[in-house]
Amino acid sequence: MNRELQEFVGKEVASFKEQGTYRTKHVLQSEQAGRVLLDGKRVVMLGCSNYLGLASDPRVKEAAKQAVDKYGCGAASVSEVCGLTDLHHELRGRLARFLGTEDALLYPSCSTANAGVIDGLLRKEDVVLSDQLNHASIVDGCRISAADKKIYPHKDLGRLEGYLRDTGEAGLRMIVTDGVFSMEGDTAPLDRIVELARKYSALTVVDESHALGVLGKTGRGTIEQYGVGGEIDIQTGTFGKALGGAGGGYVCGSQDLVDYLYHRSRSFIFTNALPPATVAGALTALSILEEDPGLVQRLRDNTQAFREGIDTIGLKLLGGESAITPIIIGETPEAYAMASSLTEDGVFLGAVGYPVVPKGEARLRVQISAALTEDDLDFSLECIERTAKKLGVV
Ligand SMILES: Cc1ncc(COP(=O)(O)O)c(C=O)c1O
Repeated sequence: MNRELQEFVGKEVASFKEQGTYRTKHVLQSEQAGRVLLDGKRVVMLGCSNYLGLASDPRVKEAAKQAVDKYGCGAASVSEVCGLTDLHHELRGRLARFLGTEDALLYPSCSTANAGVIDGLLRKEDVVLSDQLNHASIVDGCRISAADKKIYPHKDLGRLEGYLRDTGEAGLRMIVTDGVFSMEGDTAPLDRIVELARKYSALTVVDESHALGVLGKTGRGTIEQYGVGGEIDIQTGTFGKALGGAGGGYVCGSQDLVDYLYHRSRSFIFTNALPPATVAGALTALSILEEDPGLVQRLRDNTQAFREGIDTIGLKLLGGESAITPIIIGETPEAYAMASSLTEDGVFLGAVGYPVVPKGEARLRVQISAALTEDDLDFSLECIERTAKKLGVV
């Protein structure tokens, strides 16, 4: 390896270790569920986005197996040459109907969908207005786009309005926001964002990755929760979380929008189509969500029970409505130490520190699932309380 490169990466990795922020590469040895086998140990899983427990649902697994039998592992083609099976087209239609849009386009991931929308639609005379805490893939989409960028402080609609007022001469103006913010667990105020978009003739893009299957009475996301269905121009999201967890992303919107992206969105055009097994799993997960809204309620009940337990322990929580329940710890090494001590005790969760979140706001990023039983939740709360006391966090 190049000597200078070796020196650079070697020094950086050494500094992660010194600062206590070096991340272990865990090995998952079972399917995702309330309890999993991780690094040879049974642990309660509080660190993945299997919100509805569908990643290991027998119906989802069976659909994926049948798709492999019928279509093989994949079409070995990009979507727009010959990669799309009838299953892909069925998922496009079913998802669009579920989300109240005319059409949908499937991407390899939501990350590529976000980049494909922002870069695919905006030219240099356009402006993208993006929340400061939007997901990294939106940040990347803004970076590669030729448009002017205006980053507004988290949910600061005064600043957003100021930018909209100042950019009246621009071409397209695109407001892009996470529906649920992935590190905070809070939601974008879509009702007020829609009002601003209407007032200033801007278009709206909402990333529903952590909201689909989680928020709204029937799991249709932040858009349902705020009652703005039909008023958001573009929805993006993932199949890698509530809808079976296998990965893959989408863009939903009007027929013309989808047709345009089909011809112009680079991250759609220049990459392989989603594997049929992934598409079949997502289709079945979508059917389950449509037929059983009780699953969304179970997730909500679990989230509420967990939040009440953390409040009782005396730890500080962020978020509120979504299944992302960040527990503020403070300094990054403390959060990492607490997460690894909890794993030893049998509870796995993610720790997030600087520079992903501001200094002093390192956190345990708990993600609740409908797959967790009352026992799993009680056990986790006991371990969190014991570890927090042991490390002097409460
Ligand atoms: C808000 C948000 N958007 C997009 C993504 C990426 O989704 P995918 O894994 O499908 O690329 C994530 C992943 O965590 C996310 O939190």
